Amino acid sequence: MPTRADETIEALLLEKRRFKPPKSFAARASVSTSGVYRKADRDFEKFWAGFAKELEWMKPWRKVLDWKPPRAKWFVGGKLNASVNCVDRHARGPRANKAALIWEGEPGDQRTITYRELLREVSKFANVLKSLGVKKGDRVTLYMPMIPELPIAMLGCARIGAIHSVVFGGFSAESLRDRINDQGAKILVTADGGWRRGNVVPLKKISDEALTDTPTIERMIVVKRTGGEVSWRAGRDVWWSELMCDASANCPPEKMDSEDPLYILYTSGTTGKPKGILHTTAGYLLGTYATSKWVFDLKDEDVYWCTADIGWVTGHSYVVYGPLANGATCLMYEGAPDTPGRDRFWDLIERHGVTILYTAPTAIRAFMKWGTEWPEKHDLSSLRLLGSVGEPINPEAWIWYQKFIGGGRCPVVDTWWQTETGMIMITPLPGVTTTRPGSATQAFPGVRAEILDQNGRKVEVGGGYLAITRPWPAMLRTIWRDDERYVKTYWSKWNKDTYFPGDGAKRDKDGYFWLLGRVDDVMNVAGHRIGTMEVESALVDHPAVAEAAVVGVNDEIKGTAIAAFVILKEKSQTGTAATGGNGLRSELSAHVAKKIGAIAKPDRLFFTADLPKTRSGKIMRRLLRDIAEGRVLGDTTTLADPAVVSSLKSQYEDKEG
Ligand code: WTA
Repeated sequence: MPTRADETIEALLLEKRRFKPPKSFAARASVSTSGVYRKADRDFEKFWAGFAKELEWMKPWRKVLDWKPPRAKWFVGGKLNASVNCVDRHARGPRANKAALIWEGEPGDQRTITYRELLREVSKFANVLKSLGVKKGDRVTLYMPMIPELPIAMLGCARIGAIHSVVFGGFSAESLRDRINDQGAKILVTADGGWRRGNVVPLKKISDEALTDTPTIERMIVVKRTGGEVSWRAGRDVWWSELMCDASANCPPEKMDSEDPLYILYTSGTTGKPKGILHTTAGYLLGTYATSKWVFDLKDEDVYWCTADIGWVTGHSYVVYGPLANGATCLMYEGAPDTPGRDRFWDLIERHGVTILYTAPTAIRAFMKWGTEWPEKHDLSSLRLLGSVGEPINPEAWIWYQKFIGGGRCPVVDTWWQTETGMIMITPLPGVTTTRPGSATQAFPGVRAEILDQNGRKVEVGGGYLAITRPWPAMLRTIWRDDERYVKTYWSKWNKDTYFPGDGAKRDKDGYFWLLGRVDDVMNVAGHRIGTMEVESALVDHPAVAEAAVVGVNDEIKGTAIAAFVILKEKSQTGTAATGGNGLRSELSAHVAKKIGAIAKPDRLFFTADLPKTRSGKIMRRLLRDIAEGRVLGDTTTLADPAVVSSLKSQYEDKEG
């Protein structure tokens, strides 16, 4: 949701605090001089090629970049395999017995998997897929909890060139079904369930429901995680463990072209249908490798923890591909931060000696609310670097994080990027950049970001639209089966060579970027993108609803909360008019959870007889936001019927009061 310009200007004026990289940190950092920016800028292709040489290739590339806007090909002619880069090359050398994954389940069970073991598991799973007839280019959907089998499955797909598509375990059966059908997936991998706040998320049951209408699915592979009862369809369903025990641990990796697809990940856009973002092999791997190395300053002795679920892009790039390509030790945790107590994260950090923590502002705000007594119970002195991602971080949350979690000694890297960018794009370099709370600071070396106005004119100092004005290796290549939408959404706001991320931003006189949030109809709820249209469509799908308007409103913890304004049908299908009451309110909420998932449930839901519209029939969301946030109404002169707003406002105030 766009932040109001006046609030932002104020925040900028107030934010005078500066944090230089601590001397002891800078002294050991992989990058410690700002010269890298100039060098990368002088010849960005050469800069990326330098990193590419640190990957393992089966055949060298002929050309670094082939750029015919908006189509980029990176490392043209090269052949490589992502699983080899993330696993084999470490398993072969001195890191063989190093922990790749240290995993902890919510109930407290633990597993440590070394690179050597990971190679065996990945190869076995790759052979399992082959034995089920999966070939290069086939799609495999993964709907799984945060257990080691998930990265194993992803890397197993990458090994044979199958395209994986992870669907977040919080999505509903219908969302899962739509994604499976959009991809035309052959295989679904799931688990009997996963643990969340002491309860089992019934993934197998939800998968059964989704598979009632998915013609392309041939098999469902099920990991036994919770041991709960599940229903079984013989011939279709098969246990992970049974397939794995027969599989050979030797699976030669497929030679993948640099531009061969690696995965599809769905993300919300401004229309109801989610977009299947397509990432390819070499550029994506390189981008996540390079940014993990420099932004997190990864060293062999680090214990690195990214708290994101792998169902989101942050988990793809910074739980799996980036850190593993660096041969890092990654902590992976299955459950919630407040189970069994509100100090679970701090307990994990203390016990496993975590040195780098990468989490989201929404979590930090929740920790702030719970109070400092939780982190204070634990020794967090192993930490040396903190990261933030997913939404703008308020300066107060930034300072709290730096002080109470980082003990005042750890640099904080606020990293801006997207599902589409694949890799971190705007970020401090922890040994170089003087940080300012609330600012993601500068574009990563080799990346070029600018602020443009509506007409594409560059804004040197001030606010406007964020634009990426040079191709970067991990950029999305298209939207799965909707290339036209790819061109229209990302490359048509200005010129064909300028990427439009959909975010507003400001640049200060020192050239620092301050990200302001989305400028389109996409909400950022607790760091997750949800389209207002998606929620509206889900509401209108309910038989009692005639029309719905959804807006994001400011929320202390979630950043943005979902407010829905609903017009009921005068006569429902049963012939009786529905009246808006608490019963229907929770029914509609449940309906949205069923259509999309619990993350999209409206936090506030209002029944209204009418919606404020312009004379041309466009809903005036700005006014709805004003109403939902209890503000004085802005300009109402373009309204078709001004009376609608005042009646809505008084109704709203009654409900809130
Ligand atoms: C927002 C998550 C401000 C932004 C990696 C972007 C941020 C959207 C930041 C992408 C940040 C992400 N500061 N805003 N550091 N990081 N965003 O695709 O609006 O789930 O467009 O990728 O999150 O969300 P996505």
